[in-house]
Amino acid sequence: MRMIDIIEKKRDGHALTTEEINFFIEGYVNGDIPDYQASSLAMAIYFQDMNDDERAALTMAMVNSGDVIDLSAINGIKVDKHSTGGVGDTTTLVLAPLVAAVGVPVAKMSGRGLGHTGGTIDKLESIDGFHVEIEEDTFVKLVNDNKVAVVGQSGNLTPADKKLYALRDVTGTVNSIPLIASSIMSKKIAAGADAIVLDVKTGSGAFMKTLADSEALAHAMVRIGNNVGRKTMAIISDMDQPLGRAIGNALELQEAIDTLKGKGPEDLTELVLTLGSQMVVLAQQAETLDEARAKLQQAIQSGAALDKFKQFIINQGGDATIVDHPEKLPQATYQIEYQAQQSGYVTQLISNNIGVASMMLGAGRLTKEDDIDLAVGIVLNKKIGDKVEQGESLLTIHSNRQNVDDVLQKLDESITISNNNVSPTLIHKIITD
Ligand code: URA
Ligand code: CA
Repeated sequence: MRMIDIIEKKRDGHALTTEEINFFIEGYVNGDIPDYQASSLAMAIYFQDMNDDERAALTMAMVNSGDVIDLSAINGIKVDKHSTGGVGDTTTLVLAPLVAAVGVPVAKMSGRGLGHTGGTIDKLESIDGFHVEIEEDTFVKLVNDNKVAVVGQSGNLTPADKKLYALRDVTGTVNSIPLIASSIMSKKIAAGADAIVLDVKTGSGAFMKTLADSEALAHAMVRIGNNVGRKTMAIISDMDQPLGRAIGNALELQEAIDTLKGKGPEDLTELVLTLGSQMVVLAQQAETLDEARAKLQQAIQSGAALDKFKQFIINQGGDATIVDHPEKLPQATYQIEYQAQQSGYVTQLISNNIGVASMMLGAGRLTKEDDIDLAVGIVLNKKIGDKVEQGESLLTIHSNRQNVDDVLQKLDESITISNNNVSPTLIHKIITD
């Protein structure tokens, strides 16, 4: 087989066989196929697309390019949740103990990542003593006994995706549905998921800015999952404004605890119940989404979800008293109110800018080497659709530096107050095929 023939075949709009796709991925990872040929094929795929069989084959070729985590020692159907990423997305911290409380095993492998705030692990490390460096057998035992554990990313997962994603990044080929969908799904499958729930974000703070693009990506990923034997569902949720009220590491942990207590922000609570219901159904712990939702609500009301979270913290060395004493979490020195300059309704809170403002305070990382400040961030006191009086606080800045003029300037560009109200949509679509 020759790479040049594969490139020309795709360039001319024909479907590649599984053997051809495997030849490309294996050759690219082991260095036989150079970057210039791989980038040429990526561009051909960008223009000519891939059919369902090609997408499934590409996904599995990337899965098989590296280690695949074996979770078979864990009892039950392992359902993983993936979010395409947003601002102040606290859902995993709430979902993990919540679905565990109704019997769904959560064996979560997580990274730190770059972005406006840290990843799930950074947020959990706001808890004194909490750690994710646990051995595999301990991890398995914790999930079997308590249904939930989080471990740091290890092993060499999907090296083909790492190499190809980096190449796409500099060759104008990131924005291709078959390439994005196979990239995301390969990582989930390599991490050992039996079933997958996808939270595809849409809006200014999302990777996909329009509903049409988000829908196309969601359909593509759901079909790949189902075609390779992993039951998959997706929801498309709004990321025009940040999710919940908190953006920051310890601040989001606090928000997660409030939500587990039944006192969380309305949108975060609703999203968690929607995603959680799908996870419970996929794990066969309920027959219908309605039955699953009722179980989850019951776990919040009874305190079972919160107890599950406490046990999870203790199991991983953390101080669980923070659940009832949030003042023990890292606190920023300064709390600065950002006041409304006029009265009216909040009609715009640009997610991406507010994320950048949090990052300027030190809540996130630009490069892997950056330190993050777990205490800092932003808490929204008003969300889209809320009425506000001139001089009222729109949000509170939690900062460890006194001068935040740069942050204020960023926020000035991010918030709109108008006379005519708007009502935001949280869940745009549910996609099952
Ligand atoms: N996120 C991924 O993991 N892969 C892509 O290709 C795009 C976004
Ligand atoms: Ca939040």
